[in-house]
Amino acid sequence: MFYPEELVEEVRAKNDIVDVIGSYVKLQRKGSNHMGLCPFHNEKSASFSVSSSKQMYHCFGCGVGGNVFTFIMDYENYSFVEALKLLANRVGVNLPEAEYSEEAKKQASIKSRLLEINKEAAKYYYYQLKSERGQAAYKYLKDRALSDDTIKQFGLGYSNKTGDDIYQYLKHLGYDDSILRESGLISFDETKKTYDKFWNRVMFPIMDVNNRVIGFGGRVMGEGSPKYLNSPETKLFDKSRNLFGLNFARVSRKPNMLLCEGYMDVIALHQAGFNNAVASLGTAFTGLQANLLKRYISEVLLTYDSDEAGTKAALRAIPILKEAGLTAKVINMKPYKDPDEFIKALGADEFQKRIDNAQNAFLFEVEVMEREYDLGDPEMKTKFFNEIAKKMLVFSEEIERNIYIEAVATKYMIGFDNLRKLVNRYGAQMIVGQSDTKERSHDNLKQKQKPEDGMKQSQKILLTWLIEDTRIFDKIKGIVDPDDFTEDLYKQVAGMLFEQYFTEHTVIPAKIINRFESKEEQNEVASLFTTTVRGDMTDLERKKAIEETVLRIKKNSLDEQSKKAIEHNDILALQKIIKEQADLQKLHISFNDG
Ligand code: CTP
Ligand code: MN
Repeated sequence: MFYPEELVEEVRAKNDIVDVIGSYVKLQRKGSNHMGLCPFHNEKSASFSVSSSKQMYHCFGCGVGGNVFTFIMDYENYSFVEALKLLANRVGVNLPEAEYSEEAKKQASIKSRLLEINKEAAKYYYYQLKSERGQAAYKYLKDRALSDDTIKQFGLGYSNKTGDDIYQYLKHLGYDDSILRESGLISFDETKKTYDKFWNRVMFPIMDVNNRVIGFGGRVMGEGSPKYLNSPETKLFDKSRNLFGLNFARVSRKPNMLLCEGYMDVIALHQAGFNNAVASLGTAFTGLQANLLKRYISEVLLTYDSDEAGTKAALRAIPILKEAGLTAKVINMKPYKDPDEFIKALGADEFQKRIDNAQNAFLFEVEVMEREYDLGDPEMKTKFFNEIAKKMLVFSEEIERNIYIEAVATKYMIGFDNLRKLVNRYGAQMIVGQSDTKERSHDNLKQKQKPEDGMKQSQKILLTWLIEDTRIFDKIKGIVDPDDFTEDLYKQVAGMLFEQYFTEHTVIPAKIINRFESKEEQNEVASLFTTTVRGDMTDLERKKAIEETVLRIKKNSLDEQSKKAIEHNDILALQKIIKEQADLQKLHISFNDG
């Protein structure tokens, strides 16, 4: 759906960013900005800044930034259109009926009807649990030590014994077979006879991060097979992209999350005060789920079952977590099988101790590996250390590698130097094999630290100054124009600002954010408008700083142009550039006067 830019702008302008963000984050006025704890990363002192004049936010800690739309998109995990709808609704702006294609309309309406159906079903199951017929199920949950509050918070329920109870109920609400078929709650056989997928089970609604029910897990009460039954994947329910409990855990404001295997584990942990627990949905942990976690926290504590299956699952999850850039640690639950049983037996305080003593994922991997070797046998022992040495190569930083070498050497008493020699031998082998790639990554490293960064910084500062004091546009007119910005993104943004100023005589930086689609670009654009400059400059110092910055940017631009002209043997262009370079000396004076 394409909404006209004026309408989008109207919605943005009517939603004051300080009001909107203030309803999610506690903000405090600090000078011309409002500051608060960043909702996108964990922090103890406020580095999240919201500017009323710019109608933008920026976090100096994690670098996120944008306007009121990107905030809602990030915070609520909404698409642009969903954010637009929420904000339009908030200020009473009517959006025209969506001009979706027929197919898109159909799909959207299927999804929203499936959401309704899941919600109705969850309400129904909950109601059943509390009714006469659900007594056994209610008792089952009580026996598992769940409080009424917990049952309510997680919306636990009961599916009746009768074979087509929920089917009849949903029919009665007016849903037809074709949509019920897609809900995953009903099975149809060849003769079109219908069966409820879940019957006589305790029901666990599965919610997405926005608290919308998207599927269910159902457990038999007591023994029985299968122990758990889950909704199949539907247009709504993608098991690889959701995590049970994340809707609560994401607002727990803890620096990490507990990743466990089962629904009951999550629920027991939340009830015991560990409201940062999540679980995958009866399927293996995926990279998509790791990325989802990465949005909220940087460390994951694995609380998988202590049996062999749980250990294997943990070994599979660790590299996935690392790949996503998360730190992984492993919680030891022995002698209990899972967190639910642990807490029931030893309580929350003991569990907290296990959290505090969580083991580093690498050392956990080494410990598991150790089980395969008989360390009493010298040959096996040598093999074991060779395997460890190979594994150590994942640490590219020498300091980090040494820390691990030290830890392992101490644990197995083989001496730091011995183990280091072994590691270095494998390292040398690797380098011989991949000298090519090694070289390239070395190059990248160098590039990152080029003095170019100073130039980028100057260009960023000028963009920030321009929006903070629009009089500068007139002063630099004819000296610096958007083409003098050497970074592509900066050039684009400068172009939009110049156009706003010289056609409308006002600049609206928050409006510019909408023109960029990727998150990375939006964050970067926001950072262009919030570059910090010393705040305590006198007028004269400020003038001088602006002038110097402008000259530096222009000079750099001319240097770049002359390089190109020389490359192309373009004498005419070169002559023109040389003249401009000479003029730059005079500009120095005229700018100072202005
Ligand atoms: N699971 C499943 N199907 C099964 C068994 C398990 O989908 N037949 C999934 C469920 O998501 C369950 C998780 O795997 O929550 C962990 O299973 P398990 O360790 O067997 O169960 P617990 O979580 O310990 O459940 P309970 O305490 O109720 O026995
Ligand atoms: Mn269990």
